[in-house]
Amino acid sequence: MQHATLTLDGQTIELPIVEGTEDETGIDVTALRKETGTITLDPGYGNTGSCESHITYIDGENGVLRHRGYPIEDLAQRASFVEVCYLLIYGELPTSTELDEFKHRLTYHSLLHEDMKKFFEGYPATAHPMGVLSAMVSSLSAYYPHAEDDEAVDLNIIRLLAKLKTIAAFSYKRSIGQAYIYPKNSNSYTADFLHMMFAVPSEDYDVPQEVEEALEMLLILHADHEQNCSASTVRMVGSSGANLFASISAGINALSGPLHGGANQEVIRMLEAIQEDGGDAQKYIDKAKDKEDPFRLMGFGHRVYKNFDPRARIIKSTADRVLENLGVDDPLLDIAKTLEEAALEEDYFAERRLYPNVDFYSGILYRAMGIPTDMYTVMFAMGRLPGWIAQWKEMRSDPATRIYRPRQVYQGATERSYQPIEER
Ligand code: ACO
Repeated sequence: MQHATLTLDGQTIELPIVEGTEDETGIDVTALRKETGTITLDPGYGNTGSCESHITYIDGENGVLRHRGYPIEDLAQRASFVEVCYLLIYGELPTSTELDEFKHRLTYHSLLHEDMKKFFEGYPATAHPMGVLSAMVSSLSAYYPHAEDDEAVDLNIIRLLAKLKTIAAFSYKRSIGQAYIYPKNSNSYTADFLHMMFAVPSEDYDVPQEVEEALEMLLILHADHEQNCSASTVRMVGSSGANLFASISAGINALSGPLHGGANQEVIRMLEAIQEDGGDAQKYIDKAKDKEDPFRLMGFGHRVYKNFDPRARIIKSTADRVLENLGVDDPLLDIAKTLEEAALEEDYFAERRLYPNVDFYSGILYRAMGIPTDMYTVMFAMGRLPGWIAQWKEMRSDPATRIYRPRQVYQGATERSYQPIEER
């Protein structure tokens, strides 16, 4: 086995190197503090591996993303979202019997307990749906108690996957004051979500096939992304032994931030602002380059990808076709393309290796499907759910898992005596 040698104040120690299946390497510092009294310091964890994982492989330098070995391009083109859920959670693509059984379970667990409908009424109609989603997922633990054995845990996994789309659609219906539309068992997973979002009791509603196909692709593209902010949050909360619903609810909150999943709605706001301001993309590129200006190009840059995000490449290449099929002519797509082209020509973006990420074009497709801006990050959460579940499940079954508990280098005041208030 390879080792790294560390010399610290004259003491030399050997640290084992862990090798991954794609030749990635990590220096195992588990014994560092015990042997030297010191720790590693890595704000933002850019150089820290928190686990060994079998789920997702990313090569950010070359724009590669694979789930359980399967390239994202293949999955987006050939698999269904439910198949990808199965692959991520159980490790292999399902046989047709396994897929039928899985679909059946997802269909028959999609109803919410009727009491839970009252919760939606307690939120203001203006509530952001991500807040409602995380609270409702957390509330599921009140209905489906903490599970220990694998079979009971698996049932909770199915319940969560099945019910998330119902929760998401109900929160939208509540926000526009319409009646809730219940799940329909003959629908596919994706079509059922669209049906619950857009059907009204007074009319028949057929889910447009183009919309269903576009949504399948978008959900697959968001399905997992290894140890990102929300997946790490799910693992961190779960490492304390917290239940599935509590852990995923925490992941939803992590996703809501504008530097993470919340970026997709911010991209559309930014493109609308550029449009209202006369469509001058260069003005906004100059703002993004200006260190005195806090403005960033939303949907640009990524901690891991230092090349084109392969998910953005897939969305961009299908956006024109999807919009055409849906009969939508969206000027924001033209602004996005101009902005991207102009940004990629600038040294500022080239030097920092900033490229469009998955969020840059996804909002344009959601918009074309009639999904309101506030719901974009909820769509991301629906897509990411199987990834979070897979990460949580792997964390739970990995014998190397300990409670997540980073350390710090303390920089505060050294010891001093308490001063009575009159002496301060
Ligand atoms: N616009 C302008 N400059 C940027 C941008 C951007 N979108 N992103 C990074 N930079 C610059 C930074 O100012 C910094 O410049 P400096 O070295 O001169 O100080 C350099 O590029 C590196 O940026 P960091 O913030 O250090 O990179 P980090 O890896 O910490 O952040 C992040 C990655 C959060 C994605 C960042 O690129 C960003 O804020 N992007 C916009 C928000 C966004 O699209 N988020 C979605 C991410 S993908 C996802 O969650 C699905």
